[in-house]
Amino acid sequence: MTIVPSQHKFSDIYKLLIGSVVPRPIAFVSSLSPDGVRNLAPFSFFNAVCSKPPIILFTTSVRADGKDKDTHNNIKATGEFVVNIVSESIAVQMNQCSADVPPEVDEFVLSGLTAIPGDIVKPPRVKESLINMECKLNQIVSFGDHPGAGKTIFGEVVLFHIADNIIDNFRIDPAQIQAIGRMGGMNYCTTRDRFEMVRP
Ligand SMILES: Cc1cc2nc3c(=O)[nH]c(=O)nc-3n(C[C@H](O)[C@H](O)[C@H](O)COP(=O)(O)O)c2cc1C
Repeated sequence: MTIVPSQHKFSDIYKLLIGSVVPRPIAFVSSLSPDGVRNLAPFSFFNAVCSKPPIILFTTSVRADGKDKDTHNNIKATGEFVVNIVSESIAVQMNQCSADVPPEVDEFVLSGLTAIPGDIVKPPRVKESLINMECKLNQIVSFGDHPGAGKTIFGEVVLFHIADNIIDNFRIDPAQIQAIGRMGGMNYCTTRDRFEMVRP
């Protein structure tokens, strides 16, 4: 079967993308509104870009009503955020934070996760997350303002917080981090079943 994206609804093309680009890591992003309301939401259109400077990216989609996500609005206004990595232990709380709630709702309260201060940026970190990356906004690339379009947020990691028991000589132990991945539909995967290959 071949599918020409321009001949279909964006919602169907979305299904193709999230079912094909798998598994996806999850950026659990904390930010602050200009008024200081805390926000926490997961984004799986997420990846690392380069190491010097250390840049990560994630994309917030434009909602069906044409509105941008609160995370995007907060970061555009304040220039700061934290990416918290999602382990199996906080999967349920991460999912709770994806609820479509008004900007005045604090997802730390909603999920019961613990907010702790960052050292450099103002948005709080998630205490229960084994890795927090304090980030400063580098740039936002917009692919439009219509439903289904994306705003890709590039951030420079200015400080890593890593749980002592999961790191040895800069290597993160995959067995300890127990990261989860997002698949198509409502599916997730664990990273318990791994294998090694030596690079030629
Ligand atoms: C695992 C997971 C991954 C998600 N990935 C994305 C994503 O990459 N982009 C996006 O716009 N929304 C994504 N969402 C939905 C947002 O988390 C959701 O729209 C949330 O309400 C946005 O919050 P905000 O408006 O406070 O920023 C994802 C949800 C879940 C559960």
